[in-house]
Amino acid sequence: MTTDRAVRLGVLGCADIARRRTLPAATTVGGLAVTAIASRDAGKARRYCAEFGGSPVHGYDALLTREDVDAVYVPLPPLLHREWVEKALRAGKHVLAEKPLTTTAADAAELFRLAEQRRLVLMENYMFLHHAQHEHVRDLLSRGVIGDVREFCCTFTIPPKPPGDIRHDPRTGGGALLDIGGYPIRAAVHFLPEPLTVLGAVLRENAGTGVVTGGSVLLSTEHGVAAQLTFGMEHSYICGYEFRGSTGRLRLDRAFTPPPHLRPVVHIETGGAAQTITLPADDQFANVLTAFAAAVRLGSAPPHWRAGSIRQAALVDEVVRVAKAVPR
Ligand SMILES: NC(=O)c1ccc[n+]([C@@H]2O[C@H](COP(=O)([O-])OP(=O)(O)OC[C@H]3O[C@@H](n4cnc5c(N)ncnc54)[C@H](OP(=O)(O)O)[C@@H]3O)[C@@H](O)[C@H]2O)c1
Repeated sequence: MTTDRAVRLGVLGCADIARRRTLPAATTVGGLAVTAIASRDAGKARRYCAEFGGSPVHGYDALLTREDVDAVYVPLPPLLHREWVEKALRAGKHVLAEKPLTTTAADAAELFRLAEQRRLVLMENYMFLHHAQHEHVRDLLSRGVIGDVREFCCTFTIPPKPPGDIRHDPRTGGGALLDIGGYPIRAAVHFLPEPLTVLGAVLRENAGTGVVTGGSVLLSTEHGVAAQLTFGMEHSYICGYEFRGSTGRLRLDRAFTPPPHLRPVVHIETGGAAQTITLPADDQFANVLTAFAAAVRLGSAPPHWRAGSIRQAALVDEVVRVAKAVPR
C-alpha cells in the first residue's frame, strides 16, 4: 500500500489496552483512521465505536472481510495471537499485534515470513521502544556518564490481577513470563550487544494452573555484562531499570509505562554525587501508531522490528528451556 491516504484500521477485540491506550491515541494520530471495531459481543463493539468511532462488527472473521480495513490491531490474549495474526495476514491486512506476538520464536518467524510473502507490514506492539527516553539513556551511556557498563538490572512487576483476568488462564493469557517478562527481556535486547546468553532463570508457577506468576532471569553478553531481569504479577508495582557502570549508576523509573504528559527523570550517581536529568515528555502510544501507519503507507517496515521480535521470542524460548520451575 504505497499511498498518502490514511490507513484504515480495524480492531479485533474490545480489550482493556485498546480502550485505555491504543484507541485514545488512534484518535489523535494523523494518517490513521479507526474504521471498524469487532467483538464477540455485538453490544460491546457498539459501545467501543460510540466512544472511538468506526463501525461495530460482530465477530472477528467478519471484520477481516471488510474492504474498508487496510490494517488490523490485534489486542487479543497472547495465546490467540498466532491464529488471528495469521488469519489477518491471509486476509491481506497489515497487522499491529499486541505483545507478545506469539508464544514461540518459530511461530514469530513463520508469521513474519507470511507477512513478507504477502508484502504486508507486521509489527509487535512493544510501545516502550517508541519512547524517546531510552535514546536519551543510550546517549548518556555512550558518553560514558557511568563509565563502562557492567550490569543491567531491569524489573517489571505488578500487583495481582483479579480472578478471571486473562493472565491467570493457561489457555489465553499464558501467565507472567509472556505478558510481563517480555518487557525486561526486550529491554535487554534493545540495550545490550549480541550475542546474549541465558545463564539461568527461575519461574514460579501457580501449582493449580501451571501459569507462571513471576520469575527472574540472568543473561550475559559475550564480555560478561550481566542482565538481571525480574518480572511478575504477585508483587508491588515496580517498572524500571538501572545500569551499573565502572564509575557510577544510572536509573530510570516508569521505563515501560510513562504516560504522555510525564517528564521522565534519569537519576545518575557517580562518586558520591547524585544528579537528575529531566527529559521531555513523549507519547509512546501515539508514536507507535504513527510508526505503524507510516510503514503501512510505505509498504515496508524497518528490518529491526522483525529481528527484535524474533530475538525476543527466542530468548523467551530459551528461558523456558533452562528455567527451574517452582510450583507454589
Ligand atoms: N502494549 C501494552 O502496553 C500492553 C498493555 C497491556 C496489555 N497488552 C497486551 O494486550 C493484549 C490484551 O491484554 P488486555 O489486558 O487488554 O486483555 P483483555 O482486556 O482481557 O482483552 C482481551 C480481549 O480479547 C478478546 N477475547 C477473545 N477471546 C477471548 C478469550 N477466550 N478470553 C478473553 N478474551 C478474549 C476479548 O474481546 P471481545 O470480548 O470484545 O471479543 C477481550 O476484551 C495482551 O496480549 C496483553 O499482553 C499490551
